[in-house]
Amino acid sequence: MHLLLLLFACTWSAVAPQHRLVEDICTAKPRDIPVNPICIYRNPEKKPQEGVSVGPEEEKIPDFTNPRVWELSRANSRFAALFYKHLADSKNDNENIFMSPLSISTAFAMTKLGACGSTLEQLMKVFQFDTISEKTSDQVHFFFAKLNCRLYKKANKSSELVSANRLFGEKSLVFNETYQNISEVVYGAKLWPLNFKEKPELSRSLINEWIANKTERRITDVIPEGAINDQTVLVLVNTIYFKGHWKSKFRSENTKLEKFFRATAEPCFVPSMFQEATFHYASIPSSKVQVLELPYKGEDITMVLILPFKDTPLVNVERELTSDSLQGWLNSLHEVTLSVYVPRFRIEDSFSVKEKLQQMGLEDLFSPQDARLPGIVSGGRDDLYVSDAFHKAFLEVNEEGSEAAAATTVVVMGRSFPMPKVVFNANRPFLVLIREVAINAILFMGRVTNPCP
Ligand SMILES: *[C@@H]1O[C@H](CO)[C@@H](O)[C@H](O)[C@H]1NC(C)=O
Ligand SMILES: *[C@@H]1O[C@H](CO)[C@@H](O)[C@H](O)[C@H]1NC(C)=O
Ligand SMILES: *[C@@H]1O[C@H](CO)[C@@H](O)[C@H](O)[C@H]1NC(C)=O
Ligand SMILES: *[C@@H]1O[C@H](CO)[C@@H](O)[C@H](O)[C@H]1NC(C)=O
Repeated sequence: MHLLLLLFACTWSAVAPQHRLVEDICTAKPRDIPVNPICIYRNPEKKPQEGVSVGPEEEKIPDFTNPRVWELSRANSRFAALFYKHLADSKNDNENIFMSPLSISTAFAMTKLGACGSTLEQLMKVFQFDTISEKTSDQVHFFFAKLNCRLYKKANKSSELVSANRLFGEKSLVFNETYQNISEVVYGAKLWPLNFKEKPELSRSLINEWIANKTERRITDVIPEGAINDQTVLVLVNTIYFKGHWKSKFRSENTKLEKFFRATAEPCFVPSMFQEATFHYASIPSSKVQVLELPYKGEDITMVLILPFKDTPLVNVERELTSDSLQGWLNSLHEVTLSVYVPRFRIEDSFSVKEKLQQMGLEDLFSPQDARLPGIVSGGRDDLYVSDAFHKAFLEVNEEGSEAAAATTVVVMGRSFPMPKVVFNANRPFLVLIREVAINAILFMGRVTNPCP
């Protein structure tokens, strides 16, 4: 029996390393890059070129965005909302959550390259890849590459968003060359041969070290002790790292210690940042939430805070959460001048995603008996399976994100009489997203239920 292990890490905030992607993929056409995984999934219910239903409102896809990239992004959002709920169900109400659904989708898409049969079908379904209006599954990889190009190769580096993928394989094995080639071209994931057989612990620390390197050391020790042994065949890793500076920063002299009202515990004290400015905002009585979008410099990436009304517990909002409800809230944002109070905090989260994905229907991949991953090792070995998958994430929010030259903030003020002011006071549990606006991708997602240091 052989073991295949998969993991990913993500982080937010700090300084950025250099990102490199295979040059061609970003300008390439599908025919230039033949993506021929070992098995191709055909959706029996879908006709080619047929649009998918996209929620309550007609969507306007920006002219410069490839419609398939847009759809992939939607699929990732659907997965994000579903996965979030499974995660929330497994935690108590006072526990923070933070993760990168995009990182999880990416790592499993790389695994999908080697999958067949019901293992492949379940991957397509659980990750919502089968909602993309393509006849076959192989195109998903091509559009993943395009999505990554759009996300990680920004012309203007006002925020730093970096992703890295890597395969670590047992050095005595011959890995399928086609698999390696596609992984490298599409995901930038080169194979690094390691001696799992004789030196599993050393291999584990090397991979953890690689992840730490790629995340400015915000993510360390992702793979727990014992998770790699002499049976390990391959470890797939995805990392995402982001650092942004607020477009409109919070002045540190306005930060004051305030009460944060936790769901079921006593209130705690947290430094509460304050500013008054114009942001995209909506108050949505039907869902009992206030939604605020705080842009980072460059405005292509934003943080979205979803704060339940005072009398509404966050769990009620979580229960209603779907990618469509989320999209509805985002669509209703409009410019408002308001007083914003947001805690300064730092949270970490780590968990095994295996159990949650199994609950969502991804069963065969983790089963030594039923997994089918013949495309990874040469000769089509059929005894590979995924033993576990780990995720670790980090988020830090402070006044500036870092230093910021006085940003061009639209501070609409100057009336000499007091106006009735809109207040957004995140002094109780809220949801948080970090998203890319132009292609509508959720990079990170979580909830802050206990920000107190
Ligand atoms: C490698 O995978 C490809 C499909 O991606 C398959 O056609 C080929 O037979 C495999 N090669 C070996 C040596 O297993
Ligand atoms: C890039 O950012 C700089 C400084 O933030 C700004 O002056 C410039 O106009 C931006 N360029 C583009 C093409 O957006
Ligand atoms: C993989 O890539 C290498 C180098 O680009 C190339 O020589 C080789 O033919 C490719 N192999 C397959 C099976 O695509
Ligand atoms: C991590 O970074 C250090 C310093 O740049 C380097 O010496 C080391 O080889 C890197 N380790 C891995 C596993 O990439």
